[in-house]
Amino acid sequence: MARDETERPGAERWVPERPTTSSLLEAVQDCRGCELWADATQAVMGAGPEGARLLVLGEQPGDREDVEGEPFVGPAGRLLDRALADAGIEPGGVYRTNVVKHFRWSGMRGGRRIHQSPKSAHVAACVPWLRAELSVVRPAGAVLLGGTAGKAVYGSRFKVGESRGRLVDWPSSLGTADAPGWVLTTTHPSAVLRADDRDAAYGELVADLRVAADALGAGS
Ligand code: URA
Ligand code: SF4
Repeated sequence: MARDETERPGAERWVPERPTTSSLLEAVQDCRGCELWADATQAVMGAGPEGARLLVLGEQPGDREDVEGEPFVGPAGRLLDRALADAGIEPGGVYRTNVVKHFRWSGMRGGRRIHQSPKSAHVAACVPWLRAELSVVRPAGAVLLGGTAGKAVYGSRFKVGESRGRLVDWPSSLGTADAPGWVLTTTHPSAVLRADDRDAAYGELVADLRVAADALGAGS
């Protein structure tokens, strides 16, 4: 058997058959679908209202999220909230989640653990949780933040620069029963924080999010 198959059976067997937000929250803590649970403090499930019309998808919990057990509570999350509000989207009404539910990191810098992007095998192992979240939340639309979220949905050739800022369809390859009606891809708020020209990068993020705000306003 391939090594990955023994180490990464995938999350499927830990996902409740009829999920609710609270059963997901509980069940994800037991997940051993890949090895990332071992070095993390806890799993971080998505959070937000069950009937949210917008789902925002990031990469994985960061250092703060791993400690607090909530998505987007660190610096990137604060920037995301500000950008949503500036685009006319009430941050409290959004369901936020990540492609991968455990923090992948290696080594320390300045008292913080150094983030490592998840590999595609981690994404593949973890994606049953996202499917379950979609079946519970059934959002009208989804915003994908950055390359990991984009690749998880559109495959390894996805590049943020090629599709950002316009509405695209959810791909049928990921299953369509609970698919969002539209998808907007944009940059990740962490990339805005790292950008040479932060103001410009922030302005571009807000401009992209306005496209999602318009789609929500149009009732689609
Ligand atoms: N970055 C993400 O992609 N997700 C979080 O929850 C926090 C930071
Ligand atoms: Fe399970 Fe995902 Fe955590 Fe891997 S990262 S153990 S698949 S919840």
